[in-house]
Amino acid sequence: MTRNIAIDSKKNTGVRVCVLGAAGGIGQPLSLTLKMNPHVRELSLYDVSPHVPGVAADLSHIDTPAKVTWHTPETGGLKAALEGCDFVLIPAGIPRKPGMSRDDLFKINAGICAELAAGIAQYSASATVLVISNPVNSTVPVFAEVLKKHGVFNPRKLFGVTTLDSVRADTFIHEIKPDLPWGLIKVIGGHSGDTIVPLLSTVLGKEIDRVPNEKLHAVNHRVQYGGDEIIQAKKGAGSSTLSMAYAAYKFFTTVLNSYLGLTDKNVACTFINTEYDDDALDGVSELKDLVKKLTNRPDMKLKYFAMPCVFGPNGIERVEYECLETLDKTEVDMVNICCETLASNYSKGVDFVNGK
Ligand code: NAD
Ligand code: LMR
Repeated sequence: MTRNIAIDSKKNTGVRVCVLGAAGGIGQPLSLTLKMNPHVRELSLYDVSPHVPGVAADLSHIDTPAKVTWHTPETGGLKAALEGCDFVLIPAGIPRKPGMSRDDLFKINAGICAELAAGIAQYSASATVLVISNPVNSTVPVFAEVLKKHGVFNPRKLFGVTTLDSVRADTFIHEIKPDLPWGLIKVIGGHSGDTIVPLLSTVLGKEIDRVPNEKLHAVNHRVQYGGDEIIQAKKGAGSSTLSMAYAAYKFFTTVLNSYLGLTDKNVACTFINTEYDDDALDGVSELKDLVKKLTNRPDMKLKYFAMPCVFGPNGIERVEYECLETLDKTEVDMVNICCETLASNYSKGVDFVNGK
């Protein structure tokens, strides 16, 4: 009952959303999309950059209800930015340049993420947190560990944003199969190179046998390494920003509309903590059992994984483990490779916070 009253009042009054890293390449277009959402009551923009007041001033002229506020470490800091927030989106941190791996960003971005996570723990512990900063496979564990240390971690409300992988998979498969329905491809695993596992069989079904193997392989490879394509095209001026802002907003609206009870279309893929069993997250035990079976590793302790999840007013309601029951041979091989890399990626984030 209390929950329904809370949702209804949010439906009427809207939500407070904070963007940490709002003056950056992703932060600016993402903030633009958020300003356009009628359910956003206040858009709180935070950055260490002196450009954040200008971004806020610019957005504030847009004729939508969201009030735009800005904050820097010198003016109100994380406290002013985060207090009372329902959602926090985090594109703070350095992007790749040509020749770099996402892992090369870890040292700097892990420190930034740990600092921002401590702020969230202190000032907006019940907010839903969407992590965009790379390397996602390691920065999400950094967030989780810091939130755990403060005793406020909720696995239903912490997400690594992997939507760009699903967006790319959809785009690239349509280049060879234009008649397919849109928006159905699940991309699981993680968000870098061979940890990205597009499940093309979920959308192609029996058609998959009619698509030449080289074409399927090319789509998989392009989804896994699509980030590199953008970095090369931008010639040192950063990585994906516009497609990423679009993808983050797409994911945000799924989570927001589920939170407000506004939609039945409440499934999206995201990178989540899978340490806990079914009492914390429905479907996680089945997910872990299936991954053990697929990798033939009965002792595997899967701690993080991107999966399609069903969202509701309290975050994730259920992990859709069933997609793992029908993988084809190529996809099983990809899950095996993914799990090897992923384990070292997430350990890096956990060890960073725990000082190992
Ligand atoms: P950018 O350099 O243009 O912007 C980053 C912003 O973060 C800057 O404005 C900077 O001032 C700010 N910042 C740095 N330290 C901060 C701190 N302590 N607190 C608040 N703000 C801080 O970079 P970008 O292109 O916007 O990319 C941001 C991050 O997103 C990168 O790590 C990039 O790799 C990642 N990314 C992730 C995905 C994904 O699919 N998850 C896609 C694209 C990029
Ligand atoms: C992407 O996939 O485009 C992002 O993760 C940015 C990057 O570093 O490739």
